[in-house]
Amino acid sequence: MSKKLIYGGDYYPEQWLDKPEVLEKDIEFLKAAKMNLVSLGVFAWSELEPREGEYHLEWMENIINRLYENGISVMLATPSGAKPRWIAAKYPEVLRVTDKGERNLFGERHNHCYTSPVYREKVRIMNTRLAERFGKHPAVVMWHISNEYGGECYCELCQQAFREWLERKYGTIEKLNQAWWTRFWNHTYTSFEEVEAPSSLGEKSVHGLNLDWKRFVSDQTIDFMKQEIQALRDAGAMQPCTANMMYDFQGINYGKMQEFVDVISWDTYPLWHKTDDILVAFDNGMQHDYMRSLKQKPFLIMESCPTATNWQGVSKLKKPGTLMNASLQTIAHGGDSVQYFQVRQSRGSFEKFHGAVIDHYGGMDTRVFREISQVGEELEKLAELAGTGVEAPAALLYDVENRWAMEDAQGPRNKGLFYHEAAVKSYQAMKQYGMNVDVIDMDKSLDSYRVVAAPMLYMFRSGIEEKLRAYVENGGILIMTYWSGIVDETDLCHLGGTPHALTDVLGLRSEEIDGLYDWETNTAVPVQENALHITKSYTCSHLCELVRPMGAETLMEYGEDFYAGKPALTVHDHGKGKAYYVCADMEAEFYTDIYKSIFLKAGIQPLLSDIPEGVEVCSRCTEEYEYIFVQNYSEQPVKVSIPENGELLSGQYDGRLAGRSSIVLKKRKDGGVYEV
Ligand code: GLA
Ligand code: ZN
Repeated sequence: MSKKLIYGGDYYPEQWLDKPEVLEKDIEFLKAAKMNLVSLGVFAWSELEPREGEYHLEWMENIINRLYENGISVMLATPSGAKPRWIAAKYPEVLRVTDKGERNLFGERHNHCYTSPVYREKVRIMNTRLAERFGKHPAVVMWHISNEYGGECYCELCQQAFREWLERKYGTIEKLNQAWWTRFWNHTYTSFEEVEAPSSLGEKSVHGLNLDWKRFVSDQTIDFMKQEIQALRDAGAMQPCTANMMYDFQGINYGKMQEFVDVISWDTYPLWHKTDDILVAFDNGMQHDYMRSLKQKPFLIMESCPTATNWQGVSKLKKPGTLMNASLQTIAHGGDSVQYFQVRQSRGSFEKFHGAVIDHYGGMDTRVFREISQVGEELEKLAELAGTGVEAPAALLYDVENRWAMEDAQGPRNKGLFYHEAAVKSYQAMKQYGMNVDVIDMDKSLDSYRVVAAPMLYMFRSGIEEKLRAYVENGGILIMTYWSGIVDETDLCHLGGTPHALTDVLGLRSEEIDGLYDWETNTAVPVQENALHITKSYTCSHLCELVRPMGAETLMEYGEDFYAGKPALTVHDHGKGKAYYVCADMEAEFYTDIYKSIFLKAGIQPLLSDIPEGVEVCSRCTEEYEYIFVQNYSEQPVKVSIPENGELLSGQYDGRLAGRSSIVLKKRKDGGVYEV
């Protein structure tokens, strides 16, 4: 198969089976937009097995054949994301139970028990049927496993599975008691049988329990997914599998889930035009980078919206140029597809006003369809990018288990710790400088990076303290912040000084942390002749940590309150590297300016220098070539200078970049002149 980027969307022909003329039109639209793939069958269980044991796969086969005849491939879904009515009526155990012990009624979707043997068996049979029928079909190129896995169930089956999970983890109840610190408030367990999941009617304050419950739910979901995939494999289907993940989703440890899928995919629905679009782009870009970094391989966008997204607070239209920019941003960050939810707008129910390739009007002469077709054309021009990599000199440590633990704790600020925001501020500063960034969790290796940003690494797990130490010793630049290295993997506080086991690397010890009221701020003021030549002061809020330097050099200090004069930013030389420590929740501009100084001082080259405001720069590469994406998210045209020895693969450039537009430049990596 020739190299191409995937272009398509979620297709629900089962909603239109009584209208064959509509289905014929769908094909015309797909071809006109240059689409080459659809996701099929995501919510089709009731049409595939209308009554228990009565299978109807022929309609799906007809659809797949028609698509294939027209050059359109299929990503075939397993339909477990929404169960048919009959299964809930006959086997109530498949319905989820809330933390208060109430069993849900039938309704909605994504609401089955992940433990239920009946549900697992019914899904296994269905997946087996699909694999037997379509596992060798030339149109079916990938499996789309379920849909947006998530949620939890507190039924007795899940509770029992949790107890067994704990017993496997701890071995003895004494070890569990120690890890969860259960003598506190008299909560000692005498056997695993006594353990119940956290509940608003029962236990909520044993943080080790809460943390392990989240880990269990994540593991149980992954286990469910593994069984789905196994059923396909047992029936002989060997196409790659993917499961669509979600934006900043905290219900599953995707770092663990990634091992069991062949390809990473996710669903992106940014709130364009709500704030400054460049900020939206950075936030969304960080998620793309997180997804790419899960496997360090190209990922797919499984869903995005061609125009207004109806479940958001306000259904905002995408302004002209935004669809192209958003689509190319995916490719820029290492994605190999653009896909939409939904191909044809559904006529009734919850998503009837959600943006679609084909709207209720049903013609091609719409603004949205025109833009969709333009994206199709650009993706064809960029086909050679499929499968290419991203080289990132910088990494952002962003870890879901860290977040579970930190946000569950009481203190130092129950009104908001702003972890995600702190991560975004670091990320965005690296992007503004013009670097590719990997977004990784604590399980990953740090060896390939020149810079590692570690904002609010409250929990140290997976030996991260040793990894960070070795990283700095070998010449790496570490930028760590306040509220780091406080607890271990079971959420027990480290004794003997924090950031745990890194005080000598950072050349300081954290002594206290001040939570600020919403209306309070402090300032970070540069010290005279500091090593980074900082001259400006910056505002800090929410959290101010008070540290005692033990070898670290103070670059900035607090300007106010009783800790005025104490360090607000420090640096320490350790081994061949440097370790910076940001003591407070600084405004975004601090990160932009300070990171720039740090990178310049270290001689790290950006992809382009002097990137104007509102512009994002990314690159992908092969051994020989580099592809540079320059994207203007502002409404106004901007001046940018691009390397002269390149070829413009996409977009318009005359020394300037029009408002809401992008260019893609191809150049040789060795700096030689590009020959067409
Ligand atoms: C999610 C789901 C889709 C659809 C879209 C709408 O991502 O996976 O089925 O509901 O949202 O935006
Ligand atoms: Zn359950």
